[in-house]
Amino acid sequence: MHPLQDRGRYNKYGYARHGFSPMKRKIVRLINALLKPLDCELVRTSRRMTPGNTYMKDPALRSEMVKELAGLAEASFQQVQPSIPEEKVDFEKEILSFFELYRNKPFENNDGGSGFHNFFWIYLVVRILKPDLVVESGVWKGQMTWLFDQALPESAILGFDIDLGYVQPENYSRATFHQMDWNRHDFSGHEWRKPLAFFDCHVNHAQRIIEAQERGISHILLDDNFPMNRLYLNRVPPVPSADMILHHEIVEDTTIEFVHRGEAMNFPVSMEECNRARELIDTHHVFPNVGRISGYGGHSYLTYVRLKG
Ligand SMILES: C[S@@+](CC[C@H](N)C(=O)[O-])C[C@H]1O[C@@H](n2cnc3c(N)ncnc32)[C@H](O)[C@@H]1O
Repeated sequence: MHPLQDRGRYNKYGYARHGFSPMKRKIVRLINALLKPLDCELVRTSRRMTPGNTYMKDPALRSEMVKELAGLAEASFQQVQPSIPEEKVDFEKEILSFFELYRNKPFENNDGGSGFHNFFWIYLVVRILKPDLVVESGVWKGQMTWLFDQALPESAILGFDIDLGYVQPENYSRATFHQMDWNRHDFSGHEWRKPLAFFDCHVNHAQRIIEAQERGISHILLDDNFPMNRLYLNRVPPVPSADMILHHEIVEDTTIEFVHRGEAMNFPVSMEECNRARELIDTHHVFPNVGRISGYGGHSYLTYVRLKG
């Protein structure tokens, strides 16, 4: 056995172990037999791979990956010109700062919320666009709000969620939180130069696009912007998604049906609302999957939308 191979991960012949040891397997089988009447079972999970816990130790190899990501980011932002890049961006430098920030975020587990993919693109969007106001609808544990707080030291940050029970306000210097739907907030009395809204609340994108336009917000990030034939990937996706509004003609009020993990789901769609939202969209850009290069995941069709006017 190689001297660096340590306890538990290899069997006595030097082969990598997979799964529980035989003794643990027996115990788990016994516990699962007891849990079965409750429709529960013990499942082996492992920590998500992140740049903080999984990386090459050689700095030269790490910087190769940063260069590849910079190439992807530059190509992707070129596709949304002139909406986002207004000046020359040093993508490698920005990505290195992003990794530094991401490694030091005070939270690790963000299951149910954004993964590496969203953090990566949203960091670059806000660093390049420099919005003076960020509105986040759907805060969850507040990890993306923390990124906004760190990446935009001079901007106002408003987080809205119908349940703020997972947020720890001491982690933020400037973000303020509101336990309500953003459409009930009074935005009057402020003149924002370049506001940005991030909708990650699974509410219908047509509604959110119309609401943003009514409040003078033309830069939008939409999460879970599933194409119509992939809506089944989420139990409660935003329906209609922006992608669906742009790529399918909705000729009447309809109902979208799919099955998610055995559960039948259906969502009404208003033709009039889809048509109104479609008319407002100028730019629609789905960010490419950074998991292909980095191995760190979380791709869920994050999209930049710019409204007309
Ligand atoms: C996917 S999580 C948000 C993840 C978070 N933005 C992140 O990046 O980690 C969705 C959140 O939307 C919230 N939500 C559901 N309906 C909402 C609404 N109408 N307005 C605001 N938030 C809502 C849920 O309570 C949940 O916390």
